[in-house]
Amino acid sequence: MRTPLIAANWKMHKTVDEAEAFLKVFRRLTKDVTGVDIVIAPPFTALTAVVAGVQGSSIAVAGQDIFWEAEGAFTGAISPTLLLQTGATHVIIGHSERRQVFGDSDEAVNLKMRSALDFGLAPILCIGETLEERNNDETLIVLTRQICQGLDGLAGRNIAPLVVAYEPVWAIGTGHHATAEQAGQAHSHIRTTLREKFGKGAAGSCRIVYGGSVKAGNVRELVAQPEIDGALVGGASLDPESFFEIVEGGRVTTV
Ligand code: PGA
Repeated sequence: MRTPLIAANWKMHKTVDEAEAFLKVFRRLTKDVTGVDIVIAPPFTALTAVVAGVQGSSIAVAGQDIFWEAEGAFTGAISPTLLLQTGATHVIIGHSERRQVFGDSDEAVNLKMRSALDFGLAPILCIGETLEERNNDETLIVLTRQICQGLDGLAGRNIAPLVVAYEPVWAIGTGHHATAEQAGQAHSHIRTTLREKFGKGAAGSCRIVYGGSVKAGNVRELVAQPEIDGALVGGASLDPESFFEIVEGGRVTTV
């Protein structure tokens, strides 16, 4: 039995004041919520405030990226150790915006994945096809490549903390989410690929969440799919009421 996970990816949004105001409302709304793991990924500048703001709750905090080295002359980069020092426990790696805007390759994603696991951060590995790749019937090939390269060299490691986020690029921020059937098919393929790489037990304990225009109105049908263990939410996670409704809807999966 995998506990559903609902994660907020705030991207480049929210000042410290805005993050604190969000948490004030969100903490009240979620105080009696059980049966779901909640993660919030604020920008680096609001990490400390969010960690302080979730004290006493089970809400976990994530960075939106890391560099793989522990320290050194890497201007603008944040290491896993620096991230851990803020109190964050999770990190998003390989988000399509990192891949497309900042040029993160599968190789860089792999180095970040290894580093996150080495330092004890739970990685949320984002993968997903572009619209062109879907139209060319390449979705499953792209997913296999991103998993195999992203997780290269990790066979035999404890991958239980790993979360895979299936985020079709064409669904991110567009208002067009994948249908439950499209997402369900991708998630089954991801589970099978993980099973082939890491064995049944390890693959069975990883959570595979869906991301891309998730809202309160579509989260239930998505998590009703047997292999969809929750959601990674961008735009609809910025408002506490909206994110709370998604947490409520994503709480009950069939697994
Ligand atoms: P969205 O973003 O919910 O705004 O589509 C999801 C994501 O990029 O993680």
